[in-house]
Amino acid sequence: MIIFENVTKSFGKREILRGVNLEIEQGKTTVIFGVSGGGKSTIIKHMVGLLQPDSGTISYKGTRMDHADETTLREIRKKIGFLFQSGALFDSMNIRDNVAFPMIEHQNLTKGELDFKIDEKLTMVGLDPSVVKSLFPEELSGGMRKRVGLARTLALEPEVILYDEPTSGLDPVTSDFITKMICRLRDEIGMTSVLISHDISESFKAGDNYAMLFDGVIVEAGDKETFQNSTNEVVQQFIHARSEGPIAFH
Ligand SMILES: Nc1ncnc2c1ncn2[C@@H]1O[C@H](COP(=O)(O)OP(=O)(O)O)[C@@H](O)[C@H]1O
Ligand SMILES: [Mg+2]
Repeated sequence: MIIFENVTKSFGKREILRGVNLEIEQGKTTVIFGVSGGGKSTIIKHMVGLLQPDSGTISYKGTRMDHADETTLREIRKKIGFLFQSGALFDSMNIRDNVAFPMIEHQNLTKGELDFKIDEKLTMVGLDPSVVKSLFPEELSGGMRKRVGLARTLALEPEVILYDEPTSGLDPVTSDFITKMICRLRDEIGMTSVLISHDISESFKAGDNYAMLFDGVIVEAGDKETFQNSTNEVVQQFIHARSEGPIAFH
């Protein structure tokens, strides 16, 4: 569904992506592992056209999205939901308006339709609309804010959702809820997801396919079994959380 071919990207003199090849399969959850600062968020930003590769190509359902014109990019962006690392809600808006925001921007809904969808999305993420709608982000816990962020991402009914470390900083119970949510969306509506996570045990509950980013390239990719049985030293060091091996720690 999303294909990266030989994607390179440098920031200044530092080459962060050095020829990334990656395929995101439709209807599946793909987990991308890698060390901090390794370029995982950089990969995700290329998937929504926030960054352009220096070389190589990126396509979405067969359409080239690297260096695409604004119209093409707009069409593709509508189909890709992005859950930011922080949740990124508007502090000055209540929860109702936060969830309504993308729908008002992109869709022509009546007030009745809008209210229906706001309630529907909040319910999907396990929040009671009658309780949370009038609250402001600062009145919610980190986990609840993350769920409102997800409700807002779901509002545009995307074909793909990109999750950048969705459980970091959350308690284990909320982390488990987010993980289950990712699985439910796949099982119930066939959602395609891309998940970046440091949480290896949560990731192994959620993913169908796995890719390991190391030193600017994908060193291993495959389904869960292939990945877990990989003889690649980087993969083994990472999934067993060992400090000895090719991944240097600082
Ligand atoms: N817009 C940018 N300008 C300069 N350097 C950047 C930019 N975005 C990311 N980087 C650098 O690229 C490296 C990879 O970052 P990132 O993709 O955020 O890693 P990860 O998400 O794997 O932790 C980091 O060293 C980061 O500082
Ligand atoms: Mg990151």
